[in-house]
Amino acid sequence: MLNDQMRNIVQQMPKAELHIHIEGSLEPELIFALAQRNGVSLAYGSVDELRAAYAFSDLQSFLDIYYAGASVLLKEQDFYDMTMAYLVRSHADNVRHAEIFFDPQTHTARGVPFETVINGIWRACQDGPISATLIMCFLRHLSEDDAIATLEEALPFRDKIIGVGLDSSERGHPPEKFTRVFERCRQLGLRLVAHAGEEGPPAYIETALDVLNVERIDHGVRCLESPELTARLAKEQIALTVCPLSNIKLRVFGEMEAHNLVTLLDAGLVATVNSDDPAYFGGYMNDNFLAVFDALPLTAAHARQLARNSFTASFLAPEAKRAFLAEVDQFFASASAGNNAII
Ligand code: HPA
Ligand code: ZN
Repeated sequence: MLNDQMRNIVQQMPKAELHIHIEGSLEPELIFALAQRNGVSLAYGSVDELRAAYAFSDLQSFLDIYYAGASVLLKEQDFYDMTMAYLVRSHADNVRHAEIFFDPQTHTARGVPFETVINGIWRACQDGPISATLIMCFLRHLSEDDAIATLEEALPFRDKIIGVGLDSSERGHPPEKFTRVFERCRQLGLRLVAHAGEEGPPAYIETALDVLNVERIDHGVRCLESPELTARLAKEQIALTVCPLSNIKLRVFGEMEAHNLVTLLDAGLVATVNSDDPAYFGGYMNDNFLAVFDALPLTAAHARQLARNSFTASFLAPEAKRAFLAEVDQFFASASAGNNAII
């Protein structure tokens, strides 16, 4: 159960977000405002009607609505406004650094130029209140050739991207479908991540690591079905970017009380807490933290571990990492000291 002290700790502690799809931060109000600005007609009559459609039964039922929502993004300013809204909102949750996914194929397939997408998102990251870097995701329901063509389009903007990822429909689209494009990205010095083990089996986590050579696994919660894989993830300290509210909305777990986050942490895995698609799943970073701390037997020590893990698992330069980790340690030292101790 969550008391006031724990609530203060998880809200106020410095943290990094490592699993956020920027198109999933598009709130219904902004979808309607952009639709009006761009003269796009929507299948929903009002913000409330759209929000009412956010009743998902699995990953695909969410993706269908998520791609429809993104159809209002046409101009560079639209991408800027969406990204800035996320950065400002995350700053309020004491997020200090975000590694932001974007899905260029969702936009280029509609005729929006690649440069419109990346310039809008990147410019907001320069102007926003927190540190932010970009991870370009390939849509796994499309072909590897399509992913390679997207990488070619990204090459002139190489310095604006820290890494690449793999998202969209997981089942039936194993990581090894993207072996060549990930190898090219690795040669380019891009950092590598992939969604695996959200709806897909533990074997997808293994091939993401062994065939694609990814450094972090997005979601990864199904790893516990394989004791050998769990032991390996702990031994190699491979980070998992866990998204608790997403997991409930997409029915990876029936209820938050059944989430395996405590088991992952207590097994020594580098688990982190993230929002995934906050406009669709019921909340931003602190909403996710409060939901798991409310439902699960998580302690202040777990909170500190989660805050530390978020920076340790980031792609920040070593010096920046050390500075943020020192900030976390300082926060917990002062939280546990003196008469106003909140631990
Ligand atoms: N899984 C896969 N693809 C996605 C997700 C997710 O949770 N969110 C946005 N694209
Ligand atoms: Zn995701």
